[in-house]
Amino acid sequence: MTQYGQMTAGSYMYIGPQGIVHGTTITVLNAARKLGGGTAGKLFITAGLGGMSGAQPKAGDIAGVVSITAEINPAATQKRFEQGWVDEVHDNLDELFAAVNKARDAKIARSFAYQGNVVDLWEYCAEKGIHVDLGSDQTSLHNPWAGGYYPVGVSFEDAKIMMAEKPELFKEKVQESLRRHVAAVNKLTAKGMYFFDYGNAFLLESSRAGADIWNKDKTAFRYPSYVQDIMGPMCFDYGFGPFRWVCTSGKPEDLDKSDHIAMEVLGEIAATAPAEIQQQMHDNIQWIRGAKENHLVVGSQARILYADCEGRTKIAARFNEAIRKGEISAPIVLGRDHHDVSGTDSPFRETSNIYDGSNRCADMAVQNVIGDSFRGATWVSIHNGGGVGWGEVINGGFGMVLDGSEDCDRRLHMMLHWDVNNGISRRSWARNEGAMFAIKRAMDICPELKVTMPNLVDDSILEGLF
Ligand SMILES: NC(=O)c1ccc[n+]([C@@H]2O[C@H](COP(=O)([O-])OP(=O)(O)OC[C@H]3O[C@@H](n4cnc5c(N)ncnc54)[C@H](O)[C@@H]3O)[C@@H](O)[C@H]2O)c1
Repeated sequence: MTQYGQMTAGSYMYIGPQGIVHGTTITVLNAARKLGGGTAGKLFITAGLGGMSGAQPKAGDIAGVVSITAEINPAATQKRFEQGWVDEVHDNLDELFAAVNKARDAKIARSFAYQGNVVDLWEYCAEKGIHVDLGSDQTSLHNPWAGGYYPVGVSFEDAKIMMAEKPELFKEKVQESLRRHVAAVNKLTAKGMYFFDYGNAFLLESSRAGADIWNKDKTAFRYPSYVQDIMGPMCFDYGFGPFRWVCTSGKPEDLDKSDHIAMEVLGEIAATAPAEIQQQMHDNIQWIRGAKENHLVVGSQARILYADCEGRTKIAARFNEAIRKGEISAPIVLGRDHHDVSGTDSPFRETSNIYDGSNRCADMAVQNVIGDSFRGATWVSIHNGGGVGWGEVINGGFGMVLDGSEDCDRRLHMMLHWDVNNGISRRSWARNEGAMFAIKRAMDICPELKVTMPNLVDDSILEGLF
């Protein structure tokens, strides 16, 4: 079948906003860890209260920071406020910061929306010398000329007219806005703010706009993408990624049972897990423990958590057993986001922390789905474009129906082992430290697995050759 869906929707694994809330929570938690100390009292500024970006204030609250999310479209702001994902809305910057400072002083988690253009918010912070801990952006910059990014100094309504009637002028305004946007962010990072690209092509479009976004020798952007700095080295390289399941009975009690099984399994693994992955285990045990209270289920009774090969396989095997015994009333469909260890070749996002040049090839995603299909997936899918734009990414996914059978047990072990370790191998060949650790561990656990380890060469020898 050929269809439009790109990422999780493409493999029938879209589970509503839960996936992005979980992913953003993990990202904000780990971004705060980069600065040291906990999240309490830390200020996170970003933009976008749209389809996916609307998860940011909710995730900020779960992670424990004070967050401000700018949104130009009043309808989008209102929707998130009514839904309870944003605690307060302000359109006056002095009033906003009076409330923000109170929350910071009290060290309580609170989410604020700024109704206005994000560039006005950043310039205000830069001018007033406000200390911001974490900064990012989730406007739709993968689609800058058709409403993904609204230029500063033009009202929301006027911008829509300009976009349709004077597209060249609109483009100029967007690029001018991006130059101002980056200039204000640069002032704040010079004072210690940690800024990261959140997979929305912010760095790429800013560079195309001529913004001051390059490092000193103009070889790379001055800021990392969240995959380069956070998700890649802390999660994907160790095999941790967005494992999901859907209870086909549609019954909340089946989801409760599956949550409980997942929590138990992760607890058992964590008891003897190596220090390198304790943080990931702990974050996801916390998440699954509180998952129900966060009320993130929309429609399908589905859940997400980050787990490695061992976690995914053991959880899946226990689900299959519970289905066989009738403790769970109907089959469960396993899947994952494509935004994972192995599923996606995307040099601007998922594979941006692979530095040996191989992230310019689209082989991993293709091998991944072919391997998954031979090892027992119920369906596989391969797509172009997911999230970062057509031509910039190839991504693949799978669905696997667990029906409680013995045969299913055999297939889930074979397929999940390939689905995760395929990407860890690739990351290890690129000499990513976490991945070398993880693939050696996978070979110790499964002696039949043989993966060539990279030969490490002293940098000085290499540099001397060229
Ligand atoms: N990191 C990830 O895991 C991840 C996941 C999903 C999406 N994304 C990326 O994030 C981006 C946003 O996705 P989305 O689904 O929320 O898109 P969206 O278009 O629904 O939301 C973007 C929002 O930004 C607002 N906006 C635009 N310009 C603004 C400005 N100058 N100031 C204030 N607000 C402004 C828009 O009004 C809109 O509501 C996309 O580029 C997408 O590819 C990343």
